[in-house]
Amino acid sequence: MQRYAIIGHPVSHSDSPRLHHAAFAAANLDCRYEPIDIDPTELREGIASLKASGIAGFNVTIPHKEAILPLLDRVDDTVRAVGAANTVVHRDGILTGHNTDIHGFRALIAPFETAVNGGAVGVLGAGGASRAVLHVLTTSFTARRIVVLNRTTERAEQIAAAFSSPGVPVVPESLFQDDLQGLVGDLDVIINTTSVGMKPYTDASPLEDVKFRKNQIVVDLIYTPAETVLLRGAREAGATVAGGLEMFLQQAAESFRLWTGKELDMRKVWEGMGG
Ligand code: ATR
Repeated sequence: MQRYAIIGHPVSHSDSPRLHHAAFAAANLDCRYEPIDIDPTELREGIASLKASGIAGFNVTIPHKEAILPLLDRVDDTVRAVGAANTVVHRDGILTGHNTDIHGFRALIAPFETAVNGGAVGVLGAGGASRAVLHVLTTSFTARRIVVLNRTTERAEQIAAAFSSPGVPVVPESLFQDDLQGLVGDLDVIINTTSVGMKPYTDASPLEDVKFRKNQIVVDLIYTPAETVLLRGAREAGATVAGGLEMFLQQAAESFRLWTGKELDMRKVWEGMGG
């Protein structure tokens, strides 16, 4: 039996173990997939012990997507471009990092292509997930401008500098500023990549007192819960909203393909599990 896992801190919110279990069963593969909580201070030892255990592959989630890079033997071009990995394949004693979040985010944002192209786009957060989002936005779309809003301004500045280009300027901003309402009010598309509002802290929103308006599009990468406080407020204001389920399913499909060589319809697997 081959073993797979998801590492994170926390990791208990993740539906990846349930989804991949169902996927392995659907593909008639005798494999296990378990959640493993690794504290950020113990990441090096954690990866060494996973490797020694002969694990076949694993997913990487909050907050390890960037920190894991120096601990891998190889990374593919997507990881090099994004600066973060969410999937690792262990083959012939080599750990190779991949980024399948970009496949997931491409699927999630595809219905909103017209609004993104030529529009003002706000990205909340400056971590690994934000890097995947910015990679897709700056390579597959032509936004008029992108604003990165983050709690820690230095991280917003670093990520903006990494992805900004003369064609699509990426501007850093603080999530804690006097005119947050004015800034967000000028955006056409708002994308939350932070973990604020995710289970179990579902009462929180990264834009607590901000009012949305009709013809704004608000996308949340969080899929647990299906509708975050951020999305509920936006929907009630008449904005178009999308939760992170499509991204979750499509990044999982691509991870599964990298591990097993098999293409699976993860939406079908998810619906077969009862969601
Ligand atoms: P991931 O790799 O999944 O993106 P990460 O690298 O830990 O995870 O990034 C998490 C993001 O959520 C960061 O932008 C973080 O803000 P900081 O850069 O200031 O740490 C943001 N975040 C997490 N908790 C937050 C909170 N309570 N309020 C605002 N932002 C928060």
